[in-house]
Amino acid sequence: MAIKYNADTKTFALETADTSYLMKVSRYGNLLHMYYGAKIPDQDLDYLLSFQDRGFSPNPNEAGNDRTFSLDFLPQEFSTDRSGDYRTPSVEVIWGDGGTAFSGKVAGYEISPGAAEIKGMPGLQKNGKEQVDTLVIRLEDPVSRVEAKLFYTVFEEKNVIARSVILANYGTRDLRLERLMSGTVDFRDSEYDLIYFSGRHTMEREMRRISVADGIHSIGSTRGSSSHQYNPFAILCEKNCDEDKGQCWGFSLVYSGNFLMETEKDQYKQLRFQAGINPKGFSFLLEPGEEFQAPQLIMAWSGSGLTGLSHIYHRLFRENLSRSPYQKKLRPVLLNSWEAAYFDFDDEKILSIAKAAADMGVEMFVLDDGWFGKRNDDCSGLGDWTVNREKIKIGIGKMSEKIHEMGMKFGLWIEPEMISEDSELYRQHPDWCLREPGRPATRGRYQLVLDLSREDVCEYLIETINHILDQAGAEYIKWDMNRSITEAWSGLLGREHQGEVFHRYVLGLYHVMDRVILTHPDILFCGCSGGGGRYDPAMLYYQPQIWCSDNTDAINRLKIQYGTSFAYPPCTMEAHVSVCPNHQTGRSVPLHTRGVTAMGGVFGYELDPTKMTEEEKEQCREQIRFYRKYAKVIMEGDYYRLTDPYENRYFTAWESVSPDGKKALLSIVVTDKEGNDAQRYVKLKGLNPDEYYRIDGWKGKFSGRLLMNAGIPVPESLREYDSLQIGLKMV
Ligand code: GLA
Repeated sequence: MAIKYNADTKTFALETADTSYLMKVSRYGNLLHMYYGAKIPDQDLDYLLSFQDRGFSPNPNEAGNDRTFSLDFLPQEFSTDRSGDYRTPSVEVIWGDGGTAFSGKVAGYEISPGAAEIKGMPGLQKNGKEQVDTLVIRLEDPVSRVEAKLFYTVFEEKNVIARSVILANYGTRDLRLERLMSGTVDFRDSEYDLIYFSGRHTMEREMRRISVADGIHSIGSTRGSSSHQYNPFAILCEKNCDEDKGQCWGFSLVYSGNFLMETEKDQYKQLRFQAGINPKGFSFLLEPGEEFQAPQLIMAWSGSGLTGLSHIYHRLFRENLSRSPYQKKLRPVLLNSWEAAYFDFDDEKILSIAKAAADMGVEMFVLDDGWFGKRNDDCSGLGDWTVNREKIKIGIGKMSEKIHEMGMKFGLWIEPEMISEDSELYRQHPDWCLREPGRPATRGRYQLVLDLSREDVCEYLIETINHILDQAGAEYIKWDMNRSITEAWSGLLGREHQGEVFHRYVLGLYHVMDRVILTHPDILFCGCSGGGGRYDPAMLYYQPQIWCSDNTDAINRLKIQYGTSFAYPPCTMEAHVSVCPNHQTGRSVPLHTRGVTAMGGVFGYELDPTKMTEEEKEQCREQIRFYRKYAKVIMEGDYYRLTDPYENRYFTAWESVSPDGKKALLSIVVTDKEGNDAQRYVKLKGLNPDEYYRIDGWKGKFSGRLLMNAGIPVPESLREYDSLQIGLKMV
């Protein structure tokens, strides 16, 4: 059993293959956090706690005259408000009388096999026969009889602990929940760096590493989606931690809405990390008998640096998250029409692009935005999910048939959560969008957001999308979401419930996805929000791949894919070859390099092949052949970041190694070049040191130990933006 309770020391121990997580019930019933890190023997860690009389650190009433006991400096599992801990709490409530004090005392616990269910939200699942157990610790506020149930699901072999919290109102009074963090971890020291992934539209998930400083540092989203600006994933690591060494702790929130991740270095140089729904814009009314569940927080620890941590998340996300059967399949090489035609097409143009794509060896054609309603530009049409007969005269079913006849699968773009004011849907249901009464609505990309907190809107969407799927005969759907939410006010909720709308929207979205995506396991769904604006584990539960970014510039993509790879495996990152000069940056990069970068993820194209020369098309055919050869290694193998694109301005390199270490693919892109340049080397990783490898196109064989320690030279003949892919095979 991975979960133990020692009644003598009142200690809970959660054990995975390599880690221990320990908690202890204090002498007054509080739940203290004792340790999270490398596996240690189950032992009383009481000696680590320091009890001292500290000025201005109040003592709980039950401590009587004991001035050495204060929650102000003790490490806690679930910090409550107004009871002596002045760091930011895990929970904040407002009682009916305006009071806010809350105190959680351990009232019991249960251990059960299997993973915890997260009600209405995605969560990790047990995979096969692996050992997965769940501990629930109940903390009761004796005065109100409100309970906080802390969930810990331990994935023993995966080295992962997934947390969640339910706040249950078993009392007789209403309460207003203002904050409920999914997880709080109190570290006794704070000499750590915080790594997070920030960005903007077309430049998502840039890796940032800062030293944890005094006070609070927070990242998060208030945009209604997990956002381009900050990803709901963060790492705390030792100062000397790098890809290959040092301790690091990962925190990944399985949530697609407003979130908060926060470090707080306190007066005693201790560090609190918290993650959960962003309290800004959140206020949930809980009547007697009601409960609220916080989304799942996935925690992992690695003692062997950042690569080790990434491998834990990659494996977990490949095996325990996605509900799509496509997760385990190789994905078709697709060509998407967006950068090929934008809104400017008719069926003849689309079919000629598709024909040229088929001729290139493309396996699936995806018709992007512009096929429905009066959608001739982005000012209108969202909500009217019937085919635009002026553009697609043959209808969508026929279009799909013709694509199938070409030997390709067919895919379609939708953006179901949105509504254009110039649409039939809006004319019929102007009240179905999020907006505040009596105020003009704020537009984003000319569009408004449907109110998914409403059951009727969700039911309508389920029916409408299912109808599109039936009509279209599509094997792939790209589900987009192209603006941030502004006025989160719903016409069907009373004023006391308006603080719930952001969260109810997310629950509504998950409900729609449950009923549309999970009922169509045969369709491959791709997530998208202006590229990677909703790149989170909850979306990956439904959609095994996500359009990584609207930025298709192969050089910018190196950083975007680098940042994305810390949490998310290549099999989740959709990446396309587009034309040059690139539409986002104006940069020109050789077609070969565009292919190499796109093969860092789920490979495809986003260009008009009718405008390509025969030579270019032949090059694409070769790319597709090459990708097919290595697709399994890229999709299922271990991913290694060999360079840091922020530190090494000369080249970016990465590598995928098959799980058995027998096959590897090394990719190098030259990002800068100087005259009479130095000879540079790249050291491989993840090979078997005691075996020999053949390198495609090279003579002889090379020991894994040699390749990992001496490396191979980056050929001097490569010019700026040139690239190289090298396949390796164990002899
Ligand atoms: C978003 C997506 C693009 C494309 C357009 C269509 O920006 O990220 O890939 O689908 O919408 O409007």
